[in-house]
Amino acid sequence: GKVRAPTHIISTISDDRGEEPCYAGVPMSNIIEKGLGVGDVISLLWFKRSLPRYCTKFIEICIMLCADHGPCVSGAHNAIVTARAGKDLVSSLVSGLLTIGPRFGGAIDDAARYFKDAYDRNLTPYEYVEGMKKKGIRVPGIGHRIKSRDNRDKRVELLQKFANTHFPSVKYMEYAVKVENYTLTKANNLVLNVDGAIGSLFLDLLSGSGMFTKQEIDEIVEIGYLNGLFVLARSIGLIGHTFDQKRLKQPLYRHPWEDVLYAK
Ligand code: ACO
Ligand code: LMR
Repeated sequence: GKVRAPTHIISTISDDRGEEPCYAGVPMSNIIEKGLGVGDVISLLWFKRSLPRYCTKFIEICIMLCADHGPCVSGAHNAIVTARAGKDLVSSLVSGLLTIGPRFGGAIDDAARYFKDAYDRNLTPYEYVEGMKKKGIRVPGIGHRIKSRDNRDKRVELLQKFANTHFPSVKYMEYAVKVENYTLTKANNLVLNVDGAIGSLFLDLLSGSGMFTKQEIDEIVEIGYLNGLFVLARSIGLIGHTFDQKRLKQPLYRHPWEDVLYAK
């Protein structure tokens, strides 16, 4: 009989062997003919399923809202400095992307993990926040350098507004807001930030859409898919900053001596 040679790679998300490429079994022509968008493509390639329109729209809103936040943030700064050092697009992009992590843009997965754990264990915001303090861990999804109680992050409000209108349940987001109400009693800038809003709302999307089993949700949260949203989104801005610097023919950047404290 036929003997199947063992393969070195297993892949389950896409297939280019037929007449046209398929994403999670859906032919490219279907995607185009049905007028689907980038949210649908992300659903197919990341979650291996077609999600309802309100979910794919939410994904698209996350991408649009996180695409850029000006030249001063870590990622854009790195991309700008790299572009001004004469490096190419990919180098400038990855130099910006490398700053995404637990403090900047990459707190979405941890926000989802910790909010889920605290909510599922019925912890009060006080118990959750004070427990984190005892462990010496900053609450992921809380805090911002320039946003505060009196200067709220519009992105968070827009995400909340969309979810309040379209999601069947926003229980995790409501929990995150209760945590924010508690942290705001400590300091004015301990607001729910965009990472925390996306992390908590994605939990609501996963658990409220009826499209994922409990086990699948646990796996998504454990593996950590959600920082991918920020990485993907911010790449748009980082590429823009790179082009901007090249267009402006900006010279090599050197940080001014006056702005460094030379200490012994
Ligand atoms: N949880 C608990 N306490 C906090 C938190 C938090 N998330 N953030 C700040 N604090 C408190 C701490 O007491 C901190 O003191 P410490 O340095 O001794 O720990 C004090 O506030 C210092 O606060 P700031 O100087 O105002 O905060 P900073 O500007 O250094 O940090 C940051 C801002 C990095 C966003 C911070 O709030 C943080 O680490 N948050 C958690 C990670 C996170 O959600 N990052 C995503 C931000 S949104 C984005 O990047 C798109
Ligand atoms: C961002 O999206 O880059 C910001 O929220 C971070 C910042 O400090 O503005």
